[in-house]
Parts: sequence; C-alpha cells; structure tokens
Amino acid sequence: MGTRLPVIAVGVLLVAGAVSAQESAIVPVATVKQLCEGMITASSDALFNVGREAPADDDDWRAVLNSALMLAESGNLLMLDGRARDDGEWMTMSRALVDAGVTAVRAVEVRDVDALLGAGDEIVVACETCHVPYRDEGLSMPVR
Ligand code: HEC
Repeated sequence: MGTRLPVIAVGVLLVAGAVSAQESAIVPVATVKQLCEGMITASSDALFNVGREAPADDDDWRAVLNSALMLAESGNLLMLDGRARDDGEWMTMSRALVDAGVTAVRAVEVRDVDALLGAGDEIVVACETCHVPYRDEGLSMPVR
C-alpha cells in the first residue's frame, strides 16, 4: 500500500496538468451576444428556412448539413470557460442546444424534411429556455 500511494498521487497530478493545459489552449474570442447573433442565428435560420423551401439538390442538403453541424457545435462553444455564465443551468441549456442540433444533423443525414422541422421546434425551445432567465430576465423572447 505504501508504495502505491505515490503512484496515485502522480496520476492525479498528471490529470490535473492535462486539464489546465487544455483550458489555457482555448481562447474564446466572440462574446455570447456575438456568438448568438453571428453563428447561432445564422445557422438556425438556415434550418428554419427549410419549412419554406425544402432542399432541392445535393448542394442544398450539404449547406443544411453544415448549418446543423454549426448549430450543434455552437452549443459546445457556449459552454467554454469565459462564456459559460455558471456551472449548472447554463451548461444544461447549452447542452440542450447541442442535442437539438444533433437531432437536426440526424434528420439531414436521412434527408427527412419533417424530422428537420421537428428539430427546428426543439431548437426554438432551446433558445427560449436559455433566453428567459439569462437574457430577458423573465420576459418572453421578443418577436423579431
Ligand atoms: C445557453 C444560453 C443560450 C442559448 C441556448 C441561446 N442563447 Fe441567444 N443569447 C443568450 C444570451 C445570454 C444573450 C445576451 C447576451 C448579451 O447581451 O450579453 C443572447 C443573445 C441573443 C441574441 C441577441 C439579442 C440582442 O439583441 O441582445 C440573439 C439574436 C440570440 N441570442 C439568438 C439565439 C438563437 C436564435 C438561439 C437558438 C438557436 C439562441 N440565441 C440560443 C443565451 C443563449
């Protein structure tokens, strides 16, 4: 037992070192507002537009796939240190955006427009669920 403890201690130090190295390598550049306006709104709008005009060819589907992937990944970006507003609800709500994005990605992969519109509903809920407490302080999402 006496010889095993130092090994465990070194292991813990290595893990801690790896985590802090990872954190310092990530540099959040955009503010939450810029991320929401630039990346999140652009990619979610592209998905909502499918209701008006369904993708017609491979190029259209590729563009929709890119938007779905961007939206899903933007949920991950919201969770970075420096952006995350807390360790609890914010993370859950950001994760919900990732999950809604993944639902959209899966729908695009099988080219299912109805499933994609369903994913759109899930996405709107994810936006509003976070905006009510963190952006609008209890007011509902303004119509824009
Ligand atoms: C995990 C939380 C979270 C999620 C999810 C989220 N947002 Fe946001 N969003 C915010 C916060 C916080 C702000 C306000 C940022 C500020 O002003 O500092 C904001 C701001 C915005 C703004 C700018 C509004 C303004 O003028 O202040 C838009 C547009 C927006 N979000 C769109 C969206 C859309 C569309 C989605 C979903 C596809 C979404 N957001 C998902 C947290 C979130």
